[in-house]
Amino acid sequence: MTAAIHLDGIRKRLGAREVLKGVTFDVETGDIFGYLGPNGAGKTTTIRILLGLLRADSGKLDVLGSDIALAGTRMKIGFVLDPDGLYDSMTGMENLRYYADIYGVPGAGAGIDRVLGLVGLADRAGDRVGTYSKGMRQRLSLARAMVHNPEVLILDEPTAGVDPTGQIEIRRILLDIAHAEKKTVLLSSHNLDEVQRICNRVAIIDRGQIRLYGELEELRQTMGRSSIVIETGAAAADSVLEDLRRQPGLGFREARGTSLLFEGGEGAAEVSDIIAFLTGRGVKIEGAGRREASLEELYSSILQEAEGP
Ligand SMILES: Nc1ncnc2c1ncn2[C@@H]1O[C@H](COP(=O)(O)OP(=O)(O)O)[C@@H](O)[C@H]1O
Ligand SMILES: [Mg+2]
Repeated sequence: MTAAIHLDGIRKRLGAREVLKGVTFDVETGDIFGYLGPNGAGKTTTIRILLGLLRADSGKLDVLGSDIALAGTRMKIGFVLDPDGLYDSMTGMENLRYYADIYGVPGAGAGIDRVLGLVGLADRAGDRVGTYSKGMRQRLSLARAMVHNPEVLILDEPTAGVDPTGQIEIRRILLDIAHAEKKTVLLSSHNLDEVQRICNRVAIIDRGQIRLYGELEELRQTMGRSSIVIETGAAAADSVLEDLRRQPGLGFREARGTSLLFEGGEGAAEVSDIIAFLTGRGVKIEGAGRREASLEELYSSILQEAEGP
């Protein structure tokens, strides 16, 4: 099956900086996909490339198996960007009619009423958008993204700047739309909590590189595993790794650079036994410790690094 959105090795330089350093991920049909990362990570740049507003320096991408440059493909995509492009002096209804015209949606009236209902704005559709709260604007943007009944929604931080109650409302609407309307959704966010609440799959981007990607539940489980980490100064020899694998009681998991990772949860081996085994094979030990690597910890370490100098 073709992915709804396919990105492969996307690179982009803006000014002197390489903002995207080979971004690769797939959004599958039916996903509510969270594109998570701190401010400046490269989310908006990726989305602008996906929408054909910006050209990648290299790499491949397609949406629904087709080139996004094709008008037919664009008709199957709805998007929300910042700035929202709504006209303050026009009513909610007039804004939607305007965009329905641009998309050339035939007999748009019923469709507009339907999307207004979906985002809970039917009773405010006659009011000028200038009088709307940020949350209402975002909901109207979402309605606009849906006027041409696209298959895929691409939403850049749809809850940013919205008050907490408004955010809950938008998340509920997104879940409704994805499930009842069978849309594939890619949304970017800097908020792990938000992504954990509504997304089934996720890619975490940090300074232009994907740090983690996959099924959210699976990532939570594997990340949630605690580990015993032994630092060996130099990478362990293959023969040592083979010996470790022949000792299931030690719970050896993998070698990562100069670290050896062992199961650290309940029933795990004693750190002293692991060290004794390794020193017996001539491995020099430089340190040992335990690590609880939850998704929260990974993301907060990314946030701290991103905020640093
Ligand atoms: N037009 C531009 N020229 C130079 N640098 C840019 C431009 N637009 C964005 N950037 C830089 O690219 C990086 C990624 O930006 P962006 O994609 O907006 O990140 P995000 O949406 O994740 O916050 C940031 O460091 C930003 O400063
Ligand atoms: Mg952004």
